[in-house]
This record gives sequence, C-alpha cells and structure tokens, in this order.
Amino acid sequence: MTVRTASRMDEGRYVLITGASSGIGAELAWLYAARGRPLVLWGRNAGRLENVAARARGCGVDVRTRVLDVADGTAAIAALREDDASHPLDIVILAAGQGDMRRGDDVVERAEDVLRLGLVNYATPSAMAAAAAECMVPRGQGHIVLIGSVAAFHALPFAAAYSGSKAGLKRFAEAQQMALAPLGIGVTLVSPGFVDTPMSRRVVGAKPFLQTAPMAARRIARAVDRDRPHLIFPFLFSVLRLVDTLVPWPLKRRILSAIKADQTG
Ligand SMILES: NC(=O)c1ccc[n+]([C@@H]2O[C@H](COP(=O)([O-])OP(=O)(O)OC[C@H]3O[C@@H](n4cnc5c(N)ncnc54)[C@H](OP(=O)(O)O)[C@@H]3O)[C@@H](O)[C@H]2O)c1
Repeated sequence: MTVRTASRMDEGRYVLITGASSGIGAELAWLYAARGRPLVLWGRNAGRLENVAARARGCGVDVRTRVLDVADGTAAIAALREDDASHPLDIVILAAGQGDMRRGDDVVERAEDVLRLGLVNYATPSAMAAAAAECMVPRGQGHIVLIGSVAAFHALPFAAAYSGSKAGLKRFAEAQQMALAPLGIGVTLVSPGFVDTPMSRRVVGAKPFLQTAPMAARRIARAVDRDRPHLIFPFLFSVLRLVDTLVPWPLKRRILSAIKADQTG
C-alpha cells in the first residue's frame, strides 16, 4: 500500500472539491487548505461557497471557486477540463450529492427526483471522474475520490433513487480503480454512514454511530494518503454490508421493507 504523506512537494498542487459549500466537502476544503493545498471549490449556493472559500484563504492558499449545478453533466465535464487546463489538478474529490426519500403518502419516489438523483449522485460524478482521469493519465499522477454512501450496499425501498444512484457510483468507482491503478492514478470510493451535516439533519429518526463532519474529512484524507481503494465508516456498516450478502433474499426483503424512514423539507 502506498502512503502519501503531506509533503512540501504537494503544497502547490491543486485539489478540486465539488459540494464544497457545505458539510463534508467544506470540511475537506479546510483540511486541505490547512495542509497548504491550493483549492478549486465548486458549489451551487454562491454565498455559502464564498464563506467556505474565505475561511480556506485564511490558511494563505490560493482558492478558486465555481458555481455550477452538477445536474448539467455536460457543463460539469467542460468546467473540469477548463479548471485542469489553468491549474493542473492533483486530487479531485467528488462530494456533491443529494439525499432524498419517499415522502408522506407517496407510493413511489417522484420521477423528477429519481432523474435528478441519478444525474447528481451517479452520472455527473462518474463522468467527471472520467474527465479527471483523462487529464491525470498523461501526467502519470493524481487521485480521484468519489463519495458514495453505505446506502449503496442495500436496496432501500423508501430511497430507491438514493440507494440506486450510490450503488451505480460504487460500481463505477471499483471499475475505475482497477483500470487506473496500473497507470499510477489512485481512486478512492468513500462509503460513509451518517455524518452530521445539513443532509443528514433532514432525516427523521435514529442515526446510529453519527460521525462529525471534521472526523469524516480526516478519515477521507487519510484514506487518500494511503491510496485506499474503499473507505467505509463507521465500522458497523462494513459488518452490515457483509450481513446483507449472507441473508437470504426473502428475509432481507422483510427486514428492509419494515424500516420506517422519513425526512423534512
Ligand atoms: N451526511 C451524511 O450522513 C452522508 C452519508 C453518506 C453519504 N453522504 C454523501 O456525502 C456527500 C456530501 O454530503 P453532505 O452530507 O456534506 O451534504 P450537504 O451538507 O447537504 O452538502 C451537499 C453538497 O452538495 C452540493 N450539491 C448538491 N446538489 C448539487 C447540485 N445539483 N449541483 C452542485 N452541487 C450540489 C451542495 O451544494 P449547495 O449547498 O451549494 O447547494 C453541497 O455543497 C454527498 O454525496 C452525500 O450523498 C452523506
């Protein structure tokens, strides 16, 4: 296993983070800024993104920002190529994502929500990871981080779009990791459980083993330093993932169908 320690060489190398205006992405921005890394931060809400960027600039690093809705995958690919052309990207962290689940009396999730989650959580981050790889391969170095979810491990009847989109991202990341490893490009899939951010605060009910966002950011950065292909946290969810593969489908169906979940907003 390669361990990339934060070195002086890394200091001038740019880190691009999507979803940097909030939660895990914002914490990663501050963490890498504290390591002396210049940043390219993407978000949708310009005010929140600027607040995150201002705090990162306090560490004395160059910070560029880009306001873009990643539901437009074609625009996101073009923007990533443009950013890499002006500031070659050493690490690309694809954290932008949306959580959603069936609400109230809805029988299934709304078609428009299913489409949006497919674009934001799966199609665009996968396409951006491919665009990042195109840029990194000729340089023979770089690292791509895709933020998935433990929801990818289970078929969640109340969140088919979320669990389905994250399952697609997981499969893409695993395949990309194998394809790029011989070319010197690292790929890390991150599968978090509950992390205390605006996204998880909308979920009503128990959030077992809730992690703080700074803790999540530290774990993710450490996994990148160690070139880990897959980070799952907290550990309990690795166990549940294993259980999911062992339990026969009729029993699994009964358990998953019995889970009650809802969200506000
Ligand atoms: N929190 C958890 O419990 C948890 C658990 C498992 C996985 N995750 C994953 O972790 C990642 C980060 O989530 P978080 O918890 O940090 O949530 P968050 O605080 O709600 O942040 C989500 C980020 O994604 C951005 N984003 C959402 N939709 C976007 C769009 N269409 N275009 C551009 N940017 C968009 C948001 O931008 P604006 O704020 O500017 O709109 C924000 O910066 C997500 O991929 C999420 O699925 C989170």
